[in-house]
Amino acid sequence: MSLGQKNRAKISGVAHWVPEKILSNKELEKMVDTTDEWITSRTGIKERHILEAGKASSDMAAEACKILFEKTGTDPDEIDVIVFGTVTPDMMFPASACLLQTKAGMSKAWGFDVSAACCGFAYSLVIGAQFIESGSAKKVLVVGSDKMSSIVDYTDRNTCILFGDAAGVVLLEKSEDEKLGILDYYNTVDGNGAQYLNMPGGGSLNPPTHETVDKKMHTIYQDGKNVYQYAVKGMSEASALIVERNGLSGKDVGLFVPHQANKRIIDSAAQRMGLKDDQVIINIEKYGNTTAATIPMALSEAVDAGRIKKGDYVVIAAFGGGFTCSSILVKWAY
Ligand code: UT7
Repeated sequence: MSLGQKNRAKISGVAHWVPEKILSNKELEKMVDTTDEWITSRTGIKERHILEAGKASSDMAAEACKILFEKTGTDPDEIDVIVFGTVTPDMMFPASACLLQTKAGMSKAWGFDVSAACCGFAYSLVIGAQFIESGSAKKVLVVGSDKMSSIVDYTDRNTCILFGDAAGVVLLEKSEDEKLGILDYYNTVDGNGAQYLNMPGGGSLNPPTHETVDKKMHTIYQDGKNVYQYAVKGMSEASALIVERNGLSGKDVGLFVPHQANKRIIDSAAQRMGLKDDQVIINIEKYGNTTAATIPMALSEAVDAGRIKKGDYVVIAAFGGGFTCSSILVKWAY
């Protein structure tokens, strides 16, 4: 479904933040039965960043906000709405958006969290764009921030090698040129996928007890093989669909900005669209899978490196727990 046409929303700034501490594949070799060679060849990951104890997703987002406000010359009081994608909120409630509102000094903003796992940022971007399109907000802050280390079982080699901590943020405003901005999106959910990727403990189904802790129900469960198959299909189809239904082909894509879960999944999606290496951003080797943060992080690094220019078609795509799937077509506005 196309976004409404009243106003066009554009991304007018993007920033990211990662904690200093690095957990390398070599260090993981000492923690579980794995090898740098296995992790690199199966996932593309070399290292990931880990946030210190006592800090949470909203703290990383606040750091990213500081950089964004500085870069874009934005007064935090100008932000009307905060849409915060995360699967690791600081607490069950209040929303991390509320905590970030105070930490980053956005005194006039209201906001809420979006739980969509690896599509947390992509869904939040689409939601945030609606406020600009309807004319009900002038500036929207969209966040993807996850402290995945807080829900990883560091004795489970199937999952602990995959994830890292980080935050990325973007600013949305009305586009003066209606040809530039967020042009189209395609979002889907398949709840049958819930069984393959979840964290079963801590919610209303399995509230925390000694038993849920003993059974490690407060950490990520993933049936990697199944998720992999769905992810390859989902990401490839969604990214190809958004390109094709807008009358474009692979050669028109300035940059493909995929969720960074596994380099092999990204390669398959890029191949399906017929993209060359320089049309794809891959930074999974440095950060691992940071869930909601991967896409704003990749966007931010790409902009900083001059890999995205005004007028470029940018294709965003994500797949994750739910199953959730998203692709978004943007014509870059600055
Ligand atoms: O972002 C949210 C969505 N998530 C994803 O998109 C992730 C999708 N899944 C994947 O990326 C991949 O399935 C993984 C990277 C998680 C796993 O890679 P795989 O190629 O699918 O490996 P596998 O699960 O089929 O395991 C192959 C073998 C198994 O041994 P056997 O049964 O063949 O003897 C595993 O036990 O590799 C073993 N293995 C490991 N070996 C060394 C699993 N994890 C490790 C490990 N180190 N860390």
